[in-house]
Amino acid sequence: MSHFQNKIIWITGASSGIGEEMCYQFSALGAKLIISARNEGKLKRVNAQLPRNPGSAKVLPLDLEKLSELPDKVHEAISYLGKIDFLINNAGMAVRDFAKNTELEIDQKLMNINYFGSVALTKGLLPYFESQKSGHIVVISSLSGKYGVPKLAAYAAPKHALHGFYDSLRNEIVDSGIYISVIIPGIIQTEITAHAVLGKGENYGKVETAFLKAYPVEKAVKKMIGAIQKRSEEYYVGGSEGITLWINRFSPWLLRRIIRNHPLKKIRSFKKKMKFWN
Ligand SMILES: NC(=O)c1ccc[n+]([C@@H]2O[C@H](COP(=O)([O-])OP(=O)(O)OC[C@H]3O[C@@H](n4cnc5c(N)ncnc54)[C@H](OP(=O)(O)O)[C@@H]3O)[C@@H](O)[C@H]2O)c1
Repeated sequence: MSHFQNKIIWITGASSGIGEEMCYQFSALGAKLIISARNEGKLKRVNAQLPRNPGSAKVLPLDLEKLSELPDKVHEAISYLGKIDFLINNAGMAVRDFAKNTELEIDQKLMNINYFGSVALTKGLLPYFESQKSGHIVVISSLSGKYGVPKLAAYAAPKHALHGFYDSLRNEIVDSGIYISVIIPGIIQTEITAHAVLGKGENYGKVETAFLKAYPVEKAVKKMIGAIQKRSEEYYVGGSEGITLWINRFSPWLLRRIIRNHPLKKIRSFKKKMKFWN
């Protein structure tokens, strides 16, 4: 019998990308799902496509930016089947702009969606997990949760904050029967950049080339589920870009040099110079 058979799993960001793929794979493993995101229509489509018992998930639309509404969403999620075993804090939004061009409202928006939203759901569920003496909280971070690269400041800030919060919380709940897994995806083949925003809130709207040829989402989610089953505290999944985690750990100075001298940056500056001389 699968580890996830009949387990009740609440997945945020279930309407696309990694969250959507999680719905299909957890469903195939016999889990019962509560699926959340803002777009109810997309959630219903995912629900209808579940490999086991299509249409059986509880569709629970929510907007992580509306923090005051989240405690009620937690109660609604618990009351669905009277139990929750896993909370998967996967929903997130990316930004693509320089810090100086990013309005503070956008920094706050990203902080709410990518950090406070997860924290609010976690705080809502914690007393309940404590009383049942079990529960597993999964958090989807990013390489941007470990170091910073240009144009990702507003995204890197909440991802870094997730590590601080969940590392601390994990040390508070030892022996409680509650587990926390922080997953660090590399570049995974989803449309995250198409859903990203620019510094003034405009939609970025295009899937970057690196994401078109990136690590397949099906393979990534399969590995994530394996790590969740093993209750890994921190787990990287993705392609060779994961080497940056090791460089950052053993020589942060070297990683900073690599980021500042990225070949693409050099090509762009060369092109600029050519335009100037033409
Ligand atoms: N793809 C990658 O390479 C990569 C790398 C590192 C980390 N990650 C992380 O993986 C997670 C999933 O990303 P993805 O690649 O699957 O991107 P995605 O396809 O854009 O999925 C993002 C999900 O988050 C939901 N969401 C966005 N804003 C929300 C809000 N205000 N309230 C509730 N839900 C919201 C979206 O649904 P609605 O629009 O319907 O609300 C969607 O279901 C994110 O946390 C992301 O930071 C991805």
